Amino acid sequence: MILVLFIVMTYLTLQCKREGFLQRIKEEEGEGCNIYGFLEVNKVAGNFHFAPGKSFQQANMHVHDLLAFQKESFNISHKINRLAFGEYFPGVVNPLDSVQWVQHTQHGMYQYFIKVVPTVYTDITGRTIQSNQFSVTEHFRSDNIGHQHSLPGVFFFYDLSPIKVTFTEGHVSFLHFLTNVCAIVGGVFTVSGILDSFVYHSQRAIKKKMEIGKFS
Ligand SMILES: *[C@@H]1O[C@H](CO)[C@@H](O)[C@H](O)[C@H]1NC(C)=O
Repeated sequence: MILVLFIVMTYLTLQCKREGFLQRIKEEEGEGCNIYGFLEVNKVAGNFHFAPGKSFQQANMHVHDLLAFQKESFNISHKINRLAFGEYFPGVVNPLDSVQWVQHTQHGMYQYFIKVVPTVYTDITGRTIQSNQFSVTEHFRSDNIGHQHSLPGVFFFYDLSPIKVTFTEGHVSFLHFLTNVCAIVGGVFTVSGILDSFVYHSQRAIKKKMEIGKFS
């Protein structure tokens, strides 16, 4: 499990200054970035995130150095062009594709909570695709509640569902088709028979009544 911590260390900032890191950040102010790639992860819950600052491992924790970003707010408006867990299979709907979000308030973190459902798709030739579908809920955690600053960034927390979905493509056999056709034809005959007898009997009844009326 990756832990995100907000740590301020003065000596690190000094080091960053020496490396020209802060200068580089100043130069990139107001710019966005386009991120493309894939991650290979274990089949356990976890998260990945896009956040500013240098990240490093410290005592088994994932830490971001954010001192350079403390003064101004960091705009985390973003657009997700495509996010998929695993290979494409026919009929898959990835709910985060072309989702856009614009930040209106200052400070905060945007969180996506993703439930990944393992899915097996077997096509007509028997080829199977081991993939996943997912559902998502989202939440913007803004900072003005007064507690400690949260790390600005876009976070994706994913969790695996214990339920697996299996899709199988298949043909309907000719015999099955034939019985279906027979059932439809038989149904049509039966219904028209009922209608016919109804019309016939009511017509006869009316005729009889008229004859009786005439005779009496
Ligand atoms: C963040 O950037 C977006 C897009 O450039 C802009 O529409 C939005 O107003 C900005 N938000 C803040 C709080 O400055």
